[in-house]
Amino acid sequence: MMRIVVLSAAALSLFFTSCKNRVVADNESAKTIDTTTARDRHTQSNADSVTMKHLDLDIAVDFAKKQIGGRATWDISNDKKASVLRLDTYDLTIDSVTADGKKVPHTMGAFVEHLGNALNIPITEQTKQVSIWYHTGAKATALQWLEPQQTLGKKQPFLYTQSESIYARSWIPAADGPGIRFTYSARVTVPKGLMALMSAENPQQKSADGVYTFKMDIPIPAYLMALAVGDITFRSIDARTGVYSEPNMADKAQYEFAEVGKMVNTAEQLYGPYRWGRYDALVLPPGFPIGGMENPKLTFATPTIIAGDRSLMNLIAHELAHNWSGNLVTNGTWNDFWLNEGFTVYFERRLTEAMTDKSYADMLWELGYQDLEHTVEDIGKDNKDTWLKLDLTGRDPDDGLTDIAYEKGALLLKLIENNVGRERMDTFLNKYFKEYAFKTITTEKFLNYLNENLIKGDKELEQKLNINAWVYGPGIPSNAPRVQPERFKAVDAARDAFLGGKAPAELGTAKWSTNEWLHFLRKMPKPMDKEKMATLDRQFKFTTSGNSEIAAQWYVMSIAAGYEAAYPAMEKFLSQVGRRKFLEPLYEEMMTTGKQDMAKSIYQKYRMNYHPLAQTTLDKLINKKS
Ligand code: BES
Ligand code: ZN
Repeated sequence: MMRIVVLSAAALSLFFTSCKNRVVADNESAKTIDTTTARDRHTQSNADSVTMKHLDLDIAVDFAKKQIGGRATWDISNDKKASVLRLDTYDLTIDSVTADGKKVPHTMGAFVEHLGNALNIPITEQTKQVSIWYHTGAKATALQWLEPQQTLGKKQPFLYTQSESIYARSWIPAADGPGIRFTYSARVTVPKGLMALMSAENPQQKSADGVYTFKMDIPIPAYLMALAVGDITFRSIDARTGVYSEPNMADKAQYEFAEVGKMVNTAEQLYGPYRWGRYDALVLPPGFPIGGMENPKLTFATPTIIAGDRSLMNLIAHELAHNWSGNLVTNGTWNDFWLNEGFTVYFERRLTEAMTDKSYADMLWELGYQDLEHTVEDIGKDNKDTWLKLDLTGRDPDDGLTDIAYEKGALLLKLIENNVGRERMDTFLNKYFKEYAFKTITTEKFLNYLNENLIKGDKELEQKLNINAWVYGPGIPSNAPRVQPERFKAVDAARDAFLGGKAPAELGTAKWSTNEWLHFLRKMPKPMDKEKMATLDRQFKFTTSGNSEIAAQWYVMSIAAGYEAAYPAMEKFLSQVGRRKFLEPLYEEMMTTGKQDMAKSIYQKYRMNYHPLAQTTLDKLINKKS
């Protein structure tokens, strides 16, 4: 999956006190872990000394300048009597700063790779409020500014943010660590005729003057700050759910998302109340660099999940699940990322199972296992980046965005479930979400919690789980569970039959879901015979598939096989879609099968359509092997 390796020795000024951290993950020999992985190395703020209570934003969005500017006011409590408030910024210009209404001299720290510049604001014991007047820069990593041409409507520009993991600081001066929570309010001015939405209580109609006010009374970390501005319209699903999109996507979005209300109810039955009020989703223009982002109250989603048949809704199940694992119980540092994503994948699959059935969820588990195998092979099975507990010190937290956190993390939870039974597992998870609600969790804290609440000294269970091998060990542990999906047996048989010469029309594919198709295609020989590709294509029309997952898989195979009939459609896909999960394997395949020129010429044409973060990933890929 998405993975870039940027190793850099960043000289960080750290604020946590150093301590040896004892964990009792392994009861026989309490293990001393490296403290560098237990602290948040990705914020330069001193939010451990100064409490960040509330943020009030008053900002304007300037499409001509591609700039957000205005005022950020922080309500603070300086209980530990710090003499300075230190915040994170990245490519922000600070115009002036006041403390309790009086202008104060601020200073900027030296630029630290990945982290940006610390903003130092002198404060006193009594300081209650600091205001910062600022504007964003051209290198704002969180922002993607779309020209009208890059939207579906083609008439209005569009802006969206992607703050996870450490990019909020590129549009708000903030204490930008996942363990630092605050409430917020905002006043956002945008060009008349556009709608603004945030991870907050949202409007359902455009305002007459382009001014919008927002309120978020539930404390969240900075990575969940979000803003989208564009020609956006709202459609209701039920009393607490709805979907926003560009107007000409609204009908399709409403159809695709029709079951989301039911999904929220189902999630609540599994793991307790949904704590965030409304649950809406925003379908973005196709350049959105990821599949989805769990912004509170308002999931951001790629339009590539609009397949016309609700078959890719597990992505929404995933983002919805984050409202428990991630938004409610939050990973303490980016080294603990698996606690956000692994739990969410597990929850997502449980939710999808409850919405469909076991035979369907089993297929997702197997496809996930296949992804995990590839990732481990890619990273190297002995590489420490395949441990669940990561060490991203001095690195871009984006390095941790691999299927290790997602699939290995989820698989560990499945292993626990298999050993203790579903009932005990769910009781445990319900309690966990309740007790850690609005709190931060580190890997070590979680392991302790697991010991105290589930393992409870059961030596046999402890041995069966062998959790240390998962958390502080590489690769896929030998006790990893692997399901054998019933429905894939028919798929394997159909593939064999096809390769043996049977006509595609006779393969019995009528009732197949996306999962069956993916498994069918993934296990084809590589490269596949061009004639065979053409035969399949004639019957199943993969080249023009409206299902992005199937199309992307097919294009990768087409590149490997040199099946040129698919190239024009593939190029169109690459010109519009910005989702890294699809872009990376496609360009990678071109680069590794002798089609570097093709990769370069296509990339050159469409690079500007991609998000800054996708550009960073792809720049490296395209320039690597040439
Ligand atoms: N929170 C992630 C996206 C993310 C993680 C962005 C880290 C930046 C840094 C989101 O929930 C996610 O996992 N999205 C996946 C969805 C998939 C696993 C169903 C994606 O975008 O592909
Ligand atoms: Zn996620």
